[in-house]
Amino acid sequence: MNSPSVVTLHVAGDVALLSIDRPPVNAISAEVTAALAAALDRFDAQRDARALVICCKGRTFVAGGDIGEFDAAGFSTQPLNRVLARIEGSPHIVVAAMHGSVLGGGLELALACHYRVALPGTRFGFPEVKLGLLPGSLGTQRLPRLTGVGVALDMILGGKPLSAEAAVAIGIVDEIRDADPADAGLAYAQSLLARSAKPRRTSELAVPAFDAAVFGQRRAEIAERARKYPALECIVRAIEAAATLPFVQGEALEAAFFEQCRQSPQSKAMRHLFFAQREAARTPAAEPKPQPRRVDSVGVVGAGTMGSGIAIAIAGAGIAVTLADSSADSLARGLGNVRTTFEAGAAKGRMSVDEAGECVARVQGTLALGDLRGCDVVIEAVFEDMALKRDIAAALGSVCKPGAILATNTSTLDVDALAEASGRAADFLGMHFFSPANVMRLLEVVRGAATAPDVLATVMELARRIGKQPVVSGVCYGFIGNRMLEPYLREAECLLLEGASASAIDAALESLGLAMGPLRMLDLAGVDVAAKVVIERDKAGALPPDRAYRVVARRLFELGRHGQKTGAGFYRYEGRTALPDAALAAVTRELAQAAGVMRRESIASEEIVERCLYPLINEGVRLMEEGIACRPGDIDVVYTSGYGFPDFRGGPLWMADAIGLRHIVERLDDYARSTGNRYGYWTVCDTLRRYANEGLRLSDWRKPGA
Ligand code: COA
Repeated sequence: MNSPSVVTLHVAGDVALLSIDRPPVNAISAEVTAALAAALDRFDAQRDARALVICCKGRTFVAGGDIGEFDAAGFSTQPLNRVLARIEGSPHIVVAAMHGSVLGGGLELALACHYRVALPGTRFGFPEVKLGLLPGSLGTQRLPRLTGVGVALDMILGGKPLSAEAAVAIGIVDEIRDADPADAGLAYAQSLLARSAKPRRTSELAVPAFDAAVFGQRRAEIAERARKYPALECIVRAIEAAATLPFVQGEALEAAFFEQCRQSPQSKAMRHLFFAQREAARTPAAEPKPQPRRVDSVGVVGAGTMGSGIAIAIAGAGIAVTLADSSADSLARGLGNVRTTFEAGAAKGRMSVDEAGECVARVQGTLALGDLRGCDVVIEAVFEDMALKRDIAAALGSVCKPGAILATNTSTLDVDALAEASGRAADFLGMHFFSPANVMRLLEVVRGAATAPDVLATVMELARRIGKQPVVSGVCYGFIGNRMLEPYLREAECLLLEGASASAIDAALESLGLAMGPLRMLDLAGVDVAAKVVIERDKAGALPPDRAYRVVARRLFELGRHGQKTGAGFYRYEGRTALPDAALAAVTRELAQAAGVMRRESIASEEIVERCLYPLINEGVRLMEEGIACRPGDIDVVYTSGYGFPDFRGGPLWMADAIGLRHIVERLDDYARSTGNRYGYWTVCDTLRRYANEGLRLSDWRKPGA
């Protein structure tokens, strides 16, 4: 018998029950496929069985094919497709009994069954597009036959899951039953037998009538994105094949498109991120695994944009929040922001009006820090000022209950110094949210030198509960994201001084797929905010002795050009539209002259990309070398979830492997030679050089000694 543990078959009278049991999500691996085939053999050998119910143990029905196997050289969807053909071809009725997340290969398995019953709350979808793929086990062929072409295009191109009710409405679920999955399936199979139901084979259905223009319309809609995500065009073509060709021909085309996408660099990058995101959310190197502390209530200090955004994120996840501010006006504004955000969410249909009301009621305001004494976690989110933050850390240290976790939302200050000020360094850490905190998924969790393992574990768990993507960083200036951004922005400004236009710089980087080039990003985030950080670092003696260092941002700040919010920064703005501004060219010309920077007629976009991106990559490797970042995947997750780096490139370090480390090192060395490297800007870090020399890839990175 083949792998009895992952698939079991129990025959009870005339109905057999096939259960898949492969935690955590019953993903279909080669082993599961083989075990399914063996179970079907046993079912076929049963004389009395007249129906088969397929269900899953654990938290969900099959949530997809095993993504971890997609990289294997000989991977093929054919063995599973043959199993699905056997299920569909069975002379006895086959019922899928589903719960949890019925995704990808799980939904394809269900579509091969003759009847489908689901528990309330089950979700159905084809998320392959988010991995740069299309369904590879006949999802593109069976779904349109059941639902029609339009719904199939929506579901497979969109990748968003549907509710059980919506699944009934589009015809992929026959009934919703509130019972244990096996019981629901067995009872439903009995009712089908009682009415002498016959097998229904989706592949034998004709696709419902459709307007042939639909494919042209969809192609036009996706044209722009399809340049970055080739799977989109493959999806349209596969569904078009389902609608216009016999099943077997559609099947062959789907298989060819799936293989093409599986091998594409875009899909490999997106699959890398799928696992990197989940790995980043795990507390690194904590053995034995610490028990997280209980979190029922959170305090937030500072009711500004950041503090109220954090309160919204936490209250939205069902956790009580006390929002504290020393000013009654700020507190009222912050609470107003909480209310309007939830009300807008209800108006957009994201939640009911009642749910919005409950979320608003979960946030209590106070003017007294003492009211935070009962909170399990307190997050300080006041203005970025060391003296103020130090005072608040000390006050929280004396006010909060023993065992409370104290966090600072600083983006630039020394978390260890604040931890010391609190008098409870073991309970202290950084939680670096990104603005707007209720929208942006990234959360850098900054582990201080003394942070206790269970404190870190608690905050990682809290991050997951509030829908954030946590990544652990050590303490250093800028943590992972902003520290890597520093050389990137430095070079963008140097290029301006040398004569490149703002739009040429942004266009070069946006051509890689970045959501926004460096200068548009600074304009959006606020040139004042960026300049103040540079000014503070200058005062602290932390800048290189380079007269040209980030002078453009500093001068724009002096000129009141604070970016989009003041109508001018690196660009001038009409509404949100950035327009080239001759005034900027005048500023950069004058600054270049003062700093003795030679100007050039034109700068190639290749040079712009190399000079901005390669030092950012070099800094990322240095962060791993220093132990600030734990894994290359963590850095990729920071950049793709917080900095608009394109997912189809997998993040900066995944992209570095794709470019070739040797090439990157050669280019950095070349810039070092041509510029003289007075300030060490082009010095390649030891690890990057070693990896390049030894022909290694960053994705093979292991901590030295591990
Ligand atoms: N293949 C392999 N592993 C998978 C998987 C899949 N299709 N889906 C989930 N997993 C693994 C995750 O890597 C994670 O492993 P870890 O605990 O070792 O990190 C574990 O299952 C739990 O997944 P996670 O996403 O952390 O749990 P969740 O409860 O938040 O979400 C799902 C569950 C199923 C909704 C989510 O995992 C998901 O969307 N999976 C992908 C589904 C998919 O794309 N299917 C089509 C594949 S072609």
